[in-house]
Amino acid sequence: PTEHTLAVIKPDYTQELKDSIMNKMKEAGFSISQVTEKKLTRNIAEEFYKHHIGKDFYNHLVDYMSRGPSIMMILSKENAIAEWREIMGPTDPEQAKQGNPNSLRAQFAKSILENAVHGSSNVQHAIDNIKALKRNEKPIIGVLAQ
Ligand code: CMP
Repeated sequence: PTEHTLAVIKPDYTQELKDSIMNKMKEAGFSISQVTEKKLTRNIAEEFYKHHIGKDFYNHLVDYMSRGPSIMMILSKENAIAEWREIMGPTDPEQAKQGNPNSLRAQFAKSILENAVHGSSNVQHAIDNIKALKRNEKPIIGVLAQ
């Protein structure tokens, strides 16, 4: 069955980084839809990361995610959640460089906080993340590739 996940290219990305990530998604066979580019408000960033409330990095995370535009999109294919996480690599870029040097975070993350990309971590988070996107955004591009 087709699964859906929310992928985010986090603030401070360059056009080159955006193109290279979108190409990787297409090469991996994801359908990309609901592509939205938007600077999140602090409120939306807080809502998006509500399961991290209370962690020591939470305020820095909200600052980072609301300081510039992000690109958000829905990726769809069989096993999309796990496959996108595999392509991103581990949260911590140092760990990513050890274990999976070709992953996006190994190549592009600046730190464990500023780690370039997001992907929903499980089916429930994917449903929550996609709901948050649909509540807050109007897609600017729509369905890009099937
Ligand atoms: P993401 O996949 O978007 O999910 C939660 C985010 O919190 C994560 O990527 C990082 O941006 C950030 N994060 C997770 N763990 C840490 C940490 N130990 N220190 C700083 N930031 C973190």
